[in-house]
Amino acid sequence: MFPFLKLTDHIISLRPYEFGDEDELFKAVRESLPDLNPWMSWANDNYSVETARTFITLTRSYWSSGSMYAFAITDANNGELLGSCSLSHIHPLYRFCNLGYWVRSSQRGKGIAGCAAKLIARFAFEKASLIRAEIVIAAGNTASRRVAQKIRAHDEGLLLNRMVIGTRVCDAHMFSLLPSDFGLVAQL
Ligand SMILES: CC(C)(COP(=O)(O)OP(=O)(O)OC[C@H]1O[C@@H](n2cnc3c(N)ncnc32)[C@H](O)[C@@H]1OP(=O)(O)O)[C@@H](O)C(=O)NCCC(=O)NCCS
Repeated sequence: MFPFLKLTDHIISLRPYEFGDEDELFKAVRESLPDLNPWMSWANDNYSVETARTFITLTRSYWSSGSMYAFAITDANNGELLGSCSLSHIHPLYRFCNLGYWVRSSQRGKGIAGCAAKLIARFAFEKASLIRAEIVIAAGNTASRRVAQKIRAHDEGLLLNRMVIGTRVCDAHMFSLLPSDFGLVAQL
């Protein structure tokens, strides 16, 4: 496994969550609940500072075990927390993963999610030995679908009953990013 590291395109930075981020993460999630809640099961009225702290503890431990890589998306200039992105559900044999993102409501519409997705996908292929990153988007999530389209992820179609959000069973659009999209060769 490799140490915690920071990624940047000089507009945003991605860095692992640190102890002490919980208040800012809590604020970002709470301000965004109306936008997050329809698409993310964990984003509900029970979200607390303690939830944020537990998430940070878990993600730091998952990083060490190589089972998930979660990053805070921050402003490269002033360090403000803009959102979150992660590689999760890493398949140890087939080397693919889920690529997820959210952006706090006050920062929507600036192309931040796409920048984050490109940075974390490159990390997946260059550092984490993955060969495919899946962006799985619930049907109806137009904003996220636009992100995937704008970064030219491969649109692989609509998968039926692919996702459960809370108590809702949803179809989902499957998009993928591959090492070749970044001029890289898939390496195991
Ligand atoms: C989806 C999401 C990550 C997009 O992040 P972003 O940084 O705002 O992305 P973009 O700036 O590229 O905008 C993407 C689309 O969002 C929509 N959008 C942008 N600003 C918006 C706003 N203020 N209000 C509503 N929709 C908006 C537009 O459709 C836009 O597409 P366009 O650029 O073709 O107009 C963000 O809206 C979000 O966090 N949503 C809730 C969580 C979520 O759905 N995560 C993805 C799960 S698969």
